[in-house]
Amino acid sequence: MAGGQTQGPRAPIFFLPIPLLFPLLALSVTVSPSPASFTPPDSYLLDCGAPKSVKLADGRTFRSEPQSSSFLSTDEDIRLSSSSPTTSLSPLYETARVFSSTSTYSFFISKLGLHWVRLHFFPFPSTSYNLSSAVFSVNTEDYVLLRDFSAPSPVSPVLKEYLINVDNERFYLTFEPKDASFAFLNAVEVVSAPDTLIPTAADSISERNQFSGLNNYALQVMSRVNVGGPVIPSENDTLARNWLPDSFLKPPEPVVEVAVAPGSVKYPEDGSVTPLIAPRSVYATADSMTNANVSGQMFNITWEIPAGGAGHSYLVRLHFCDIVSKSLNTLYFNVFINRMLAIPNLDLSSLTGGKLAMAYYKDFIVDGDTLVSGNISLQISPPVLNDPGQPNAILNGIEVMKLSNNAGSLDGPYSVDGSYHGDEASGLGKKKVAVAAVFGLVMCVAALAVLVVMFMRWRRQPDDWKKRHNFSSWLLLRHVGHCGRPGFMTKWSWSYWKESWPSTKKGQTGFGSQKSKSGYSTYLASSGLGVGRFFTFAELQQATSNFDEKNVIGVGGFGKVYLGVLDDGVKLAVKRGNPSSDQGVNEFHTEIEMLSKLRHRHLVSLIGCCDENKEMILVYEFMSNGPLRDHLYPFSPTLAPLSWKQRLEICIGAARGLHYLHTGAAQQGIIHRDVKTTNILLDENFVAKMADFGLSKAGPSSLDQTHVSTAVKGSFGYLDPEYFRRQQLTDKSDVYSFGVVMFEVLCARPAIIPALPRDQVNLAEWAMQCHRKGQMEKIIDPHLQVSGIAPASLKKFAEAAEKCLADAGVDRPTMGDVLWNLEYSLQLQEAWMGQAKEDEDNIQVRQLDSERVAEKDFEDIGTTADSSIVAPALFRGR
Ligand SMILES: *[C@@H]1O[C@H](CO)[C@@H](O)[C@H](O)[C@H]1NC(C)=O
Ligand SMILES: *[C@@H]1O[C@H](CO)[C@@H](O)[C@H](O)[C@H]1NC(C)=O
Repeated sequence: MAGGQTQGPRAPIFFLPIPLLFPLLALSVTVSPSPASFTPPDSYLLDCGAPKSVKLADGRTFRSEPQSSSFLSTDEDIRLSSSSPTTSLSPLYETARVFSSTSTYSFFISKLGLHWVRLHFFPFPSTSYNLSSAVFSVNTEDYVLLRDFSAPSPVSPVLKEYLINVDNERFYLTFEPKDASFAFLNAVEVVSAPDTLIPTAADSISERNQFSGLNNYALQVMSRVNVGGPVIPSENDTLARNWLPDSFLKPPEPVVEVAVAPGSVKYPEDGSVTPLIAPRSVYATADSMTNANVSGQMFNITWEIPAGGAGHSYLVRLHFCDIVSKSLNTLYFNVFINRMLAIPNLDLSSLTGGKLAMAYYKDFIVDGDTLVSGNISLQISPPVLNDPGQPNAILNGIEVMKLSNNAGSLDGPYSVDGSYHGDEASGLGKKKVAVAAVFGLVMCVAALAVLVVMFMRWRRQPDDWKKRHNFSSWLLLRHVGHCGRPGFMTKWSWSYWKESWPSTKKGQTGFGSQKSKSGYSTYLASSGLGVGRFFTFAELQQATSNFDEKNVIGVGGFGKVYLGVLDDGVKLAVKRGNPSSDQGVNEFHTEIEMLSKLRHRHLVSLIGCCDENKEMILVYEFMSNGPLRDHLYPFSPTLAPLSWKQRLEICIGAARGLHYLHTGAAQQGIIHRDVKTTNILLDENFVAKMADFGLSKAGPSSLDQTHVSTAVKGSFGYLDPEYFRRQQLTDKSDVYSFGVVMFEVLCARPAIIPALPRDQVNLAEWAMQCHRKGQMEKIIDPHLQVSGIAPASLKKFAEAAEKCLADAGVDRPTMGDVLWNLEYSLQLQEAWMGQAKEDEDNIQVRQLDSERVAEKDFEDIGTTADSSIVAPALFRGR
């Protein structure tokens, strides 16, 4: 995730390094040290079946069942309470939910990346269900977490803990009962983890080299041990982890437990170890061979940690801290993993920059083939020969995490779609090369298939297509896309890929699920600065009729944009830098540098370059469903009106693109400056992408005037009134324009209609006026009345849009807040649609219900502790 990975499976397609792009390499390897504390952007804590929210000793509040139901796709609602609650256990284990049919939780992920998924199971005694007889599976979209799982005896709770790299804005967790059984769950946590927690590469024990692409695997935490010390409960850990006491030490060697005051443990100043890696209490205790008073003997201290499961590799993290030495350079020891020498002559003094009691850790990848009777074996012992003083060896902490196997599973050889991968699943080591080769081959074949599909499809486009879609306004991509970056090969071909690949589950990509979406990106990242397609100049010359002025579809800051049609009918937006201008190569580099930082599923992307003949040409993706506005008005019989759900999804996509520009793209953020429905383009799957975004960084002070006036031209009706007054553009100006877009989507009318009565000319003013009077039905698109819109969803949406239109920028929400509200609105709509389907007669009643639920959630959420993380928007301006 940290963008530093440089290795991974390689396949011989689509990477043609362009020399001029090399400066970008430097950009992709900056890594910032992790901070000492961490506020998770996403934090979903659900106490299943609980009538009220529950606050744990560690300060975290779990939502009640009523507050959680909007995350769940099922209509059944079976809640259980323990008939004999055990007071010594966490209150999470007093209630549960039962799923008698397949049910899915869906969580909106505001920041993609590493997330904890913790599942709590406790089969407490209950009169109506025998929970310990339940057999079920738990899957995410890409990974099998549990297969045919059962929690056998009601003795102690079972915590299943995972670290999953979420690369989709929705995270699904599916509970699937086996045959006639049922599933149950006591509590679930889906919480952001710092991306720095898991590296992208680590030393491999058996292969004596780096194992890379670790971020392409789901991890299951198998054990986490505070060696030589007591339990460290979640309240003493910044990431709410539990560290357990050592139960893996192998007798009978005479091991000595040592401990110091946690306060004396130091973290290195370079940030390479922080309390996020492990709290001080972990480093403050250890097992050692001797204490300083006893002269040593030679033996290994040995731990054997059950790992289980063929076909998996393991991430083993060892924590060290020299709390035993009286002086520097007296402690040296060997570390063995599975009887192989992992660290010869470990010298903590030199690794910690000459300080005692300084935290240090080291990661290893252990191949499942090397396990010692199913266990991971750890041994530490002093070297036999060089022994100036007291031979000793210590270990402070152990973490073992299982990596998903070739089936994308953490529990057995079956993948999410049920296919069997048992034959190939046998560790990574030996099969890695073969897998990479097959992967490459599959990619080639699929790429070919994609080209064929595209060819067929483009050929079918009617000639009047261009007219219908008003090219001039939307194929103009002034500063768009991303070059020299993972996953940018071709967004379009990627979608085709996904579509054309035989698969049953959404998001499954068919070629070994651990190489799914993120793996694919990584794969491309690994091809360095590969360009999706390297166009020859002649090819582009022909595609654009030798850059005929008639083909100009726009003029950007850097050059003209042409419509290009390749021999095979594929259409492209071709942006040609002016070779005679002074701006020249430097500018081109700057732009690509900029574009390379702007990469997002919801930004229109770059698909290729040409730098022949001193030409500097960028080629962008073609968005086959054109601008959003065409689908709103004027009503065209050839385009079906969008449903409310589709409109919400489009708004969410666009908001996500903008949110990324504001927060994720550059240090100071980037202001789009021209948010409107013609700059939101739709691909063949109606995925919305922002186009035509400007390059101006949201600098602290003034703006380049010419830049600004270019950008705002022709967007009257969307303009931030505060910008007029203060001549200062901020990201809140985009929020204002987005508010106008939201009303445009709801009402299907232009932002300005000069012919209307005065109070109706400006959509922003008119819609706000109607909203305040509670007369939204007067202005919403009549098509929506027909296809159905949940009152609660409409309410949430209109409220959010109105907040965007606040007069002062400071009163407007951030795009992140807007996004949250849109997601919420979508959830309300989906819930309502589900109910409507289930019981047509009850629609009236249920509408009222869902409104009430929405209101209630609103208040309930406001009182829980984690809500500030989840729903900042709810508090703003209230
Ligand atoms: C946990 O934190 C509390 C309060 O700071 C402290 O008193 C206690 O000793 C800590 N426990 C461990 C195991 O570190
Ligand atoms: C410790 O274990 C390793 C690997 O199993 C072995 O090679 C080494 O000789 C052992 N050291 C001692 C002192 O027993």
